[in-house]
Amino acid sequence: MCGIVGAIAQRNVSDILLEGLKRLEYRGYDSAGMALIDDPEKGISTIKTVGKVAKLVEAAHKRDASGKLGIAHTRWATHGRITRANAHPHGSGDRISLVHNGIIENHESLRQELAAAGYRFATQTDTEVIAHLIRQALENGASSLLEAVTSAIAKLRGAFGLCVIDRQQPDRLVVARCGMSLVIGDGIGGENFVASDPLALGQVTDRFIYLEEGDVAQLTCDSIEVWNGGRRVKREIATLSGKASEMDKGGYQHFMQKEIFEQPQAIRDTLSGRVSGDHVLEEAFGVEAGKIFDKVEQVQIVACGTSFHAGLVAKYWLESIARMPCQVDIASDYRYRDIIVQPGTLFVAVSQSGETADTLAALRYAADRKHVATLAICNVATSSLVRESDFCLLTMAGQEIGVASTKAFTTQLTLLLILAIVLGRRNGLAGKDEARLVRDMNRLPELVDRTLKLDGEIRKLSKQFSDKNHSLFLGRGIQYPVAKEGALKLKEISYIHAEAYPAGELKHGPLALVDSDMPVIVVAPNNDLLDKLRSNLSEVSARGGKLYVFADEGIGLESDRGCKVINLPGCPEVLDPILFTVPLQLLSYHAAIIKGTDIDHPRNLAKSVTVE
Ligand code: M6R
Repeated sequence: MCGIVGAIAQRNVSDILLEGLKRLEYRGYDSAGMALIDDPEKGISTIKTVGKVAKLVEAAHKRDASGKLGIAHTRWATHGRITRANAHPHGSGDRISLVHNGIIENHESLRQELAAAGYRFATQTDTEVIAHLIRQALENGASSLLEAVTSAIAKLRGAFGLCVIDRQQPDRLVVARCGMSLVIGDGIGGENFVASDPLALGQVTDRFIYLEEGDVAQLTCDSIEVWNGGRRVKREIATLSGKASEMDKGGYQHFMQKEIFEQPQAIRDTLSGRVSGDHVLEEAFGVEAGKIFDKVEQVQIVACGTSFHAGLVAKYWLESIARMPCQVDIASDYRYRDIIVQPGTLFVAVSQSGETADTLAALRYAADRKHVATLAICNVATSSLVRESDFCLLTMAGQEIGVASTKAFTTQLTLLLILAIVLGRRNGLAGKDEARLVRDMNRLPELVDRTLKLDGEIRKLSKQFSDKNHSLFLGRGIQYPVAKEGALKLKEISYIHAEAYPAGELKHGPLALVDSDMPVIVVAPNNDLLDKLRSNLSEVSARGGKLYVFADEGIGLESDRGCKVINLPGCPEVLDPILFTVPLQLLSYHAAIIKGTDIDHPRNLAKSVTVE
């Protein structure tokens, strides 16, 4: 995923830009670049390199790069190969230079129109059209860079975060946001900044303006002006605590707690640039992805632990949305099997760390066996899994430190749902259904946020677990993997024994365990299996079992003596597995607090299991 940094100051900003790019390396990229204006008479100085930011730093220092106005970028190729020419910034004439995150869907037609009007293209990127459109607007009489950018972006379809400089207006930087996050850093004493993530600017400011959809802003050394829909708008400045970084707890008691509460933003970041308006941006999977997806007839998912549970949920989506068979295997098992690979199989490895030994071994095993391609869904751009897979899609969860995986899981689910849609398109998923799914997904951050408000209620409920040593988690259909994930979380950090069962299996054995000492935790969404689930609840109650039900508020279930109900906000059915995961994470967290365990470092476990 691309990263943007921009700066305007009364001092040389090149080191600030380069440091910002280093801080964005976690997003994943394949080339980097920077453009600076020092003396406008001498033009814009641009440096680009393929590979790591360290190479760009070396090149910049060699050239003694300096300037008081500058933009910089890390590129993750979507349109056009990984080359120096395709790296950002991109320019038009010797006047405009810009960096761009996102995908311009109508770049082909714009390219033809601009070429016919005499603009010459030097790259294969979708971005270059934006630079020419801005210059065209200026040549056609736009009175300022702000006006030119506003007129150019009106012609774009897709998702973008932009940062633009103009040699003839070297006292300003113009930025625009549509579907890709962008923050302005309010600097101290005559300097201002912009970046795709506040993390990039932690060295220079702790005051940020989060741009909203459709915002266009002009930054000078002394001012920040934001416009939306042609009107000047006011945006609040948020102060991030001086210590705010991914490596500190930011006021939370534990990393796990912080990471649970980061989920709305992590999901937002994961959706950003992957969906636009009413459809999924398939190009986000990479330049060659479309051709690969055309060949896919079925999917093989391999993972461990929580990531395996994400795969189990995805199986339901791949069947119902993509109408494709899907097999899900535990990596440590898969790697030693004499597997049979059906023609047209896409191999998908899911992993937070990308370093899990079994998942990596499974990937290497699969790579030799005639899959259509290998895809990594991973949270760490620089990981072995990402490097060794044919292509990847990164969960944008940010660093996950707590051993118990939380935000990685919900962002994995977000991407797996996107994968199901992309494959579904080729298998009869109608445009209107895709639009509905994307609309639903866009509601996720807000729904997760509302679910997190149940924290206090769940904390109280967790007290009832203080003397328990065993528990049972139940879910039906797609909620069974959610129950499994809930059980894994509870056992992992509170050391309470927890088992998950498909609710329909209760009477085939586990019912024998049910008594008043065995809490039974149930996830009850509002779906076709609800009546069957109600019967399973009665089976538990009739045996004196104590039920804790997380229920969709729409089903009207009420607490009674043997059953405590916690209502979740009603949500589109497809989102159930993501939403219902959240209260189970909170329950485990609070139960572990009561048990007094070392929540972020549970005994005997490691964050990344790099040995077999
Ligand atoms: O980094 P990975 O997603 O490949 O890790 C897989 C498992 O080790 C991991 O999910 C583990 O189960 C977590 N501790 C669960 O919270």
